[in-house]
Amino acid sequence: MGFPDGTLAGREVAAYVISRAAGWDVVPPTVMRDGPFGPGMCQLWIDHDTDVDLIALSRRTDHAGLRDMAVFDAVVNNADRKIGHLLPVTDGHLYGCDHGVCFAEDYKLRTVLWQWRGKTLPRRSLEALRRLNAQLNEDGLEAELSSLLTASEISATRIRVETLLKHRVHPLPALRLARHPLASGLDDLFQGVSGRRRAVIAWTGWLVASLCQMAAVRARIFCSTRAVTPATVCPAVLFEVELALEGVVH
Ligand SMILES: Nc1ncnc2c1ncn2[C@@H]1O[C@H](COP(=O)(O)OP(=O)(O)OP(=O)(O)O)[C@@H](O)[C@H]1O
Ligand SMILES: [Mg+2]
Repeated sequence: MGFPDGTLAGREVAAYVISRAAGWDVVPPTVMRDGPFGPGMCQLWIDHDTDVDLIALSRRTDHAGLRDMAVFDAVVNNADRKIGHLLPVTDGHLYGCDHGVCFAEDYKLRTVLWQWRGKTLPRRSLEALRRLNAQLNEDGLEAELSSLLTASEISATRIRVETLLKHRVHPLPALRLARHPLASGLDDLFQGVSGRRRAVIAWTGWLVASLCQMAAVRARIFCSTRAVTPATVCPAVLFEVELALEGVVH
């Protein structure tokens, strides 16, 4: 997956720190501890409700906690959200576990929770993202994260939060742009290019991507009733284009 050795425990703790700062409470309390084999993470064990059908739960579109988890995953760039990582408790709250492969600088969101892709973020998500954004710009949270992640991983996290707040949509899977040769060349392309030029290129890219996407979505509407609409998909495409321009999509 391309994560440096010895960093997974820090990512687990950083995921808890982000979830707590935003007020999501998605991650059980998690701390770093010294153990007999060196430092590692220690996480509160959640006695989850084993009667819940996790497959049915993972497909729900009306579960606020599950939707919080989808937004949390977009922020931490979770590369491994599986159904078995859902921990529902009897009071209705939902926790998640296994956040060792989060916070890559590249856009690597891999999740079973795609049901809101391209959809507008609800107000409670925007409030949580604003809370998190404010704290990411304060010294306290930055200091806490800097012992767990690299400076560029923290910076990529900040960019994802700002991009989500700007476009207010759940992101799409990164396959399209990420596999496009243009995306891998974007980093080199933008070396030394001024901010103003980048903006012009970004908007042109967005326009072209939106037109292509609209055409593709129009075509899909005829074949699938579950297709997302152009109105919701365009900001989601823009989300990817901007992440690509920031070098977050490779
Ligand atoms: N904090 C926790 N509270 C309760 N159960 C947990 C907790 N952490 C992990 N588990 C349980 O242990 C299982 C395995 O944990 P985890 O996913 O972290 O390990 P893994 O080796 O990466 O497994 P996987 O192949 O599922 O990714 C989880 O699916 C979950 O059922
Ligand atoms: Mg795992």
